[in-house]
Amino acid sequence: MIRVITYGTFDLLHYGHIRLLERARALGDYLIVGVTGDDFDKSRGKINVQQSLMERVEAVRATGLADEIIIEEYEGQKIDDIRRYHIDIFTVGSDWKGKFDYLSAYCKVVYLDRTEGISSSEIRSHQREIRLGMVGMPEDLLKFHKESSFVNGVKTAGICTEGPAEELPEAFRGLPCVTQSYQELLEQSDALYILSHPSRHYEQVRAALEAGRHVLCEAPAALTAKQCRELFALAREKGCILMEGIKTAYSTAYYRLLLLAKSGQIGKIVSVDATCTRLAEDRSSGPEQLNRSWNSLCDWGPTAMLPVFQLLGTEWKEKQIISHFSDADPAYDVFSRINFVYPEATASIKVGKGVKAEGDLIVSGTRGYIYVPAPWWKTDYFEIRYENPAENRRYFYQLDGEGIRYEIVAFLKSIEKGRSSSYVEEEVSEAIAGVMEDFYSRRDTRTI
Ligand code: CTP
Repeated sequence: MIRVITYGTFDLLHYGHIRLLERARALGDYLIVGVTGDDFDKSRGKINVQQSLMERVEAVRATGLADEIIIEEYEGQKIDDIRRYHIDIFTVGSDWKGKFDYLSAYCKVVYLDRTEGISSSEIRSHQREIRLGMVGMPEDLLKFHKESSFVNGVKTAGICTEGPAEELPEAFRGLPCVTQSYQELLEQSDALYILSHPSRHYEQVRAALEAGRHVLCEAPAALTAKQCRELFALAREKGCILMEGIKTAYSTAYYRLLLLAKSGQIGKIVSVDATCTRLAEDRSSGPEQLNRSWNSLCDWGPTAMLPVFQLLGTEWKEKQIISHFSDADPAYDVFSRINFVYPEATASIKVGKGVKAEGDLIVSGTRGYIYVPAPWWKTDYFEIRYENPAENRRYFYQLDGEGIRYEIVAFLKSIEKGRSSSYVEEEVSEAIAGVMEDFYSRRDTRTI
């Protein structure tokens, strides 16, 4: 019996795939199809696969051409599979010609002609392209704009900015819409990315939702819990997606860490301690500059609070905010610390733009702890550590684009499916807005 194996993503299964599977099957008597797992696809740069692994497996199964379906999860697995399944022939489309010659040490390698004129990428790009409007300081928007170019199905339609058009960075010059009018940007967009000053978020998100536009707003989306609730309710009423942007939520390492912590790997979680600082800003700048920039709690608070609320929930019993404010601007905290007291746990966050500290994350439990080295908010690595170091485990996950491009993919998927695929739960957004509210009204707050 001749055993054949082939691999692919098989997203939005099309005629080209079916022809390939038919010919692969005809090469032998038994066909194994390896469908690539989501993580493996991500690590090799295929990030906006539309269908889940299960949907893709089901589609391949439904062709009736595969005798067996396996999942491809790691680099180098092909050699393992060929040995384990006693494969005689490895085959793929001719777009891979030469790439798998190294497998001929283990079995016969056959490249089948690729069917012309069709591909998953092309089908994806024909799905309606979302016109994305962006609001904020142009230099701040550059990173997001660049990351969106890695995701197909989205195009920057325009930018709303207060500065003169001549001063725009090169990347924005040719955009169809460069305007100072938010209304005009709304008219030219299907969805908005909002990175303006947090004091403007509420009105801008509201106006966008009222106009029936989807919104991805950098956290905090609102500065009071009530306003935050109101925005999510409005999004539901209008049938629009509202997502709060916290890129760390989309980092694979961070997401896996949450799952491991929640599944009891370190016992019962007793403490979450997160620190985020950056000394990038020019501290000599005057009040006007400070006014335009985000204070420490707005800038870093949502990221630092994310693991606290996602691991311990939002029902803390007490909290204390301790802030040190700038002499030039009493609304600008140079450094803030917040302590949360839960019935059976505690948490602390430290954020600063005028103070530097070790930016790590530690989740302490009754059996061990999770340690994420600085800068934990964009890490690809963490460790689970125990009393006996021999039991320690290290985890590494590829992270491209600091999580931003995965965040954009989640936003697009939400729009397509008509329901949120956000990794930031609504109650987390609301809790963040509630902390902001207390900070601005100086509730539970001490200044130093
Ligand atoms: N394939 C083919 N003819 C096509 C498209 C794909 O023969 N028109 C083959 C590929 O060569 C591969 C298998 O089908 O052996 C699975 O390919 P996959 O990468 O999943 O499909 P693509 O349509 O090429 O996907 P993408 O556009 O995302 O690269």
